[in-house]
Amino acid sequence: MYGRVLGVAVLGVGGHLVTVEAHVGRGLPALIVTGLPGAGVQDARERVRPAVEGAKLEWPLRRVVVNLAPANVRKEGPGLDLPLVMSVLAATHQIPHDRLRGLAFAGEISLRGELLSTPGILSVAIAAARAGLDGIVVPSANAVEAAQVEGLRVIGAQTLSDAVGFLRGTWSAPEVAEAAVDTPAAATVDLSEVRGQTQARRALEVAAAGGHNLLMVGSPGAGKTMLARRLPTILPELSREESLEATQLHSVAGLLGASRGLLRVRPFRAPHHSVSTVGLLGGGSTSVRPGEVSLAHHGVLFLDELTEFRRDAVEGLRQPLEDGRVVITRAVGAVEFPARFTLVAAANPCPCGFDGDGVRRCVCRSDRVQLYRNKLSGPLLDRIDIRLRIPRLTKEELLGSSAGETSDVARTRVVEARDRQRRRWTALGVSCNAHLPGPVARRTCSLSSGAEALLTKAVEKLALTGRGFDRAIKVGRTVADLAGSERIETEHLAEALSYRTGFGTEELAHAV
Ligand SMILES: Nc1ncnc2c1ncn2[C@@H]1O[C@H](COP(=O)(O)OP(=O)(O)OP(=O)(O)O)[C@@H](O)[C@H]1O
Ligand SMILES: [Mg+2]
Repeated sequence: MYGRVLGVAVLGVGGHLVTVEAHVGRGLPALIVTGLPGAGVQDARERVRPAVEGAKLEWPLRRVVVNLAPANVRKEGPGLDLPLVMSVLAATHQIPHDRLRGLAFAGEISLRGELLSTPGILSVAIAAARAGLDGIVVPSANAVEAAQVEGLRVIGAQTLSDAVGFLRGTWSAPEVAEAAVDTPAAATVDLSEVRGQTQARRALEVAAAGGHNLLMVGSPGAGKTMLARRLPTILPELSREESLEATQLHSVAGLLGASRGLLRVRPFRAPHHSVSTVGLLGGGSTSVRPGEVSLAHHGVLFLDELTEFRRDAVEGLRQPLEDGRVVITRAVGAVEFPARFTLVAAANPCPCGFDGDGVRRCVCRSDRVQLYRNKLSGPLLDRIDIRLRIPRLTKEELLGSSAGETSDVARTRVVEARDRQRRRWTALGVSCNAHLPGPVARRTCSLSSGAEALLTKAVEKLALTGRGFDRAIKVGRTVADLAGSERIETEHLAEALSYRTGFGTEELAHAV
C-alpha cells in the first residue's frame, strides 16, 4: 500500500519542496523514516502514532516505511509531522488520493492530534507558491502568516481530524482573518525629548538615511542609550520585499508577534551584553536558529555597552557586517541566514566612564584604559562609518526649555534621501548607500574636484584603509542625498570624514 503527499523542509530561511512517500507492508509494527531526516523528523516517529489514534483514525500495525525525497536535502523541523501522517493515511486509504493534488502540508502535531503553531510557515508558503501549488494545509494558528503569500489557498486546521475532514469533503476551513497591524513599540518615544546633542542628532539622521553603522562613545548619562532607542522613530517603513524577508526570519525563529501578519516596522534588536555567540550570530545543536544579527535584518542591531560583550561574539559580527549574511557551519552542512542590519553601538570611553568628560576627572590607570579600548577591535571599528563622541550636556541645555525637532520632521528628510538612493541604485538591487559594493561606490559616485582633492589629502594624512576610503565615499553620498545634491561636494565629504576620524570638521581642515 502506497501513499504520497507534499511537504516543505525549511533550511535556513529557504523552503524546499519534499515528496513524502509512505509504504505500508508486511512485517512487525515499526515506522522507519529514510531520506536524510533531521533530528526533528526522527522525533516525530514517536509522536505520530498516538496523534493519529487520538484523532480516531487508524495507525497501521504493520511495517511502515516513509521516504523523504530528494535525498540530498536535510529535512529539518517539526513542520514535517503533518505530511508524514498524511502520507500514511493516504497509503491506508483513509483519505482520498485525488484530493491531494496541488496541495502541500505543514505543521507540528501534538499527541492528542492538535495542529500546533509551527515556526517557518511563511517560508513554507513561499516555497509552495513558487512551486505553483494551489494550496497548503497548515495549523490554524499559522493561517494568517501563510495567507500573506499571494496566489495560494490557505487551509488553516485546528486538528488532524479537521485536515482529514477537509480532504474527505466533510469539513471546510474558515476564511483566514485579516492580519492585525503591528503597532510600533518605538512610537512611545520621540527625538524631541533629546535636549542638545545637535551633532549626535545629525549623525543619527545620516545613519538612518544611508544605513550606516554608528558608534557613540561618551560619559555615563550623556544620552547614548536614549539617542539609539530613538533611531527607529526616524527610519522609513519596510518595503513589501524587505518585510517578507524580515518576517520569514522571525517566523523561522518562532518569534512572530500575536498579529502573525507581516512585520511593517523595521526590527530593532537590543540584545543584552551577556548574549551568547549562538544567540547573537545564530546556530544551535539540534535545529539551527537565526541569531540577533538576522532578527535585525533590514533594521537595527543595537549593542549597548559594546565593551561588555563577549569578544568572540563581537568578532563574529565582522562577516555579517561585510556580506549581509551569516553562514553557520555544522557537521551536517552549512546553513545561511540573511543578516543585513545597521549596527548601532554605545560605550563609555574608559572603565570609570569619565575620560575626556571635561567636568569630572577620569580616575582610571592608563594601562586599564588601554586594556578597555583594546576590546574594541580594529577590524570592527573599521566597519563603523560614524564614530561619535557624545559630550555631556551643558548647564544651559540641561535647564533650558527649548524642545528639539520631532522624529516626524527628521523622518521626512530620511525618507526623501532613501527614495533618492533607491531610484539611483534600482538596477543594482541596493536600497541604501551603505550596502553599495565598495568598487561600485568608487566608480559611480561623482565627486566635485574639491571633494576629490580632500579625499586624496585624507588618504595621505589620515591613513585611511581601503575599506575606510570606500566607506567615506558612501557616507559622503548619503550626506549629499540629504542635501538633495547629485554630486558629492567638499562639505559633504568633509562631514563624512569627520565621522570616520572623530575629528570635528575644523580640526579636519587642520589635519589634512
Ligand atoms: N540629551 C538628553 N536630553 C534629555 N535627557 C537626557 C539627555 N541625556 C540624558 N538624559 C537623561 O538621562 C537618562 C540617561 O541617559 P542614557 O541612558 O541615554 O545615558 P547613557 O549615555 O546611555 O549612559 P551610560 O553610559 O551610563 O549608559 C535618560 O533616560 C534621560 O532621562
Ligand atoms: Mg547607556
